[in-house]
Amino acid sequence: MHSQLRWMAITMAATSLLHLCHSLKDQQSLLSQPDKITTLPGQPQISFQQFSGYITVDQKGQRALFYYFVEAELEPSSKPLVLWLNGGPGCSSLGVGAFSENGPFRPSGDMLIRNENSWNREANMLYLETPAGVGFSYSTDDSYYDNVDDKMTARDNLVFLQGWFNKFPQYRNRDLYITGESYAGHYVPQLAALIVQFNKKEKLINLKGIALGNPVLEFSTDFNSRAEFFWSHGLISDSTYKLFTSACNYSRYVGEYYRGSLSPVCSRVMSQVTKETSRFVDKYDVTLDVCISSVLSQSMVLNPQQVTERVDVCVEDETVNYLNRKDVQSALHARLNGVPKWSVCSSVLGYELLNVEIPTISVVGSLIKSGIPVVVYSGDQDSVIPLTGSRTLVQRLANELGLKTTVPYRVWFSGNQVGGWTQVYGNMLTFATVRGASHEAPFSQPERSLVLFRGILQGRPLPETF
Ligand SMILES: *[C@@H]1O[C@H](CO)[C@@H](O)[C@H](O)[C@H]1NC(C)=O
Repeated sequence: MHSQLRWMAITMAATSLLHLCHSLKDQQSLLSQPDKITTLPGQPQISFQQFSGYITVDQKGQRALFYYFVEAELEPSSKPLVLWLNGGPGCSSLGVGAFSENGPFRPSGDMLIRNENSWNREANMLYLETPAGVGFSYSTDDSYYDNVDDKMTARDNLVFLQGWFNKFPQYRNRDLYITGESYAGHYVPQLAALIVQFNKKEKLINLKGIALGNPVLEFSTDFNSRAEFFWSHGLISDSTYKLFTSACNYSRYVGEYYRGSLSPVCSRVMSQVTKETSRFVDKYDVTLDVCISSVLSQSMVLNPQQVTERVDVCVEDETVNYLNRKDVQSALHARLNGVPKWSVCSSVLGYELLNVEIPTISVVGSLIKSGIPVVVYSGDQDSVIPLTGSRTLVQRLANELGLKTTVPYRVWFSGNQVGGWTQVYGNMLTFATVRGASHEAPFSQPERSLVLFRGILQGRPLPETF
């Protein structure tokens, strides 16, 4: 072909391709258009788009999961996609994650206040209420709630992602990170493992990494580090510490409790522990002064206590009030299905609680082997899943995988203060603490948590200097 002709042919092809791209783009925005949020009641002026709505996850159309999606503040098309999952099991990523931790707003009275350290400064943030029965997510067939387990949750989460990508095809090939905290130490690795499996057939999901905050990874190590944490922070006496590590440790107590076979000795030890620690100290942040807010109740299940002993010293909860407003629900395209009101943790879900004993640290190991970098971070004031247990588990996993230390244990900086400590193994597995942070690190240390989040996305060690 004559070179000029060939050039013309190429230009024409390119032009029509460009047209095709434009019309595809229009179509793309059409699919998600019904879910676009015009404005949330009481919100300040913003420059980014928000979407929320439902993705059906079963064939009969009985089960649908609710999501809230916040595009990045600047240049969303060049930023990664981050899925955030809260734990419980059975607590809401919308109420806890988005509206109390790392989302763009926090409810205050009738208003939404801007969160200056929102994670959508760095990424497109997708919050998912999962499994069905949590928050606005539902099953019209009630019997589904009877026995939900980790496997069912992971499967629904994958189906959700596929459905969500159909609605937002412009994000289909985007770098994806999956993040979460607490019981999401189960949800996140299990979903990531399904994605790796799914990608073997057709590489569709561009999973780039996972991050886990104060996660349950191995029941016994995680739960039994509580005794030492209580003791070293002065919450229990020497003699009670001895009982709590020898007569009945915490993993044994929880195991017996969930099997409905609480032994007299465990009952006695736990009531002594409970008496000394007092119900007026927040177990999710032992230095926090006042409020055992329902916001902090997401791991209720990880902290089982006789109902009479549970006390909520916070009279009102801004998030619960806000999300139960009719105008808010309508702006979010949300409906209540089979529940009288939206709540932080599900009242209808019957989760298989003994799944807490399934170790997911091994799943984390297999993810690293398939090339997915992992960050485990810990709010260092949390006694429910203390940093010491997570640090032990990460260290042990690094040894098993033969990963050598690439960044030795050292401080990292946020602003010109120490943000916490970190260690990296084989440039693949990172441990980091967040200094002064609770179980919900972005809630109590938003600025430090944003620095940590940047590190996660850049795949680089946390700042060594200031
Ligand atoms: C906890 O108690 C159980 C049952 O007595 C025991 O098998 C386990 O080794 C203990 N774990 C720790 C860390 O003390």
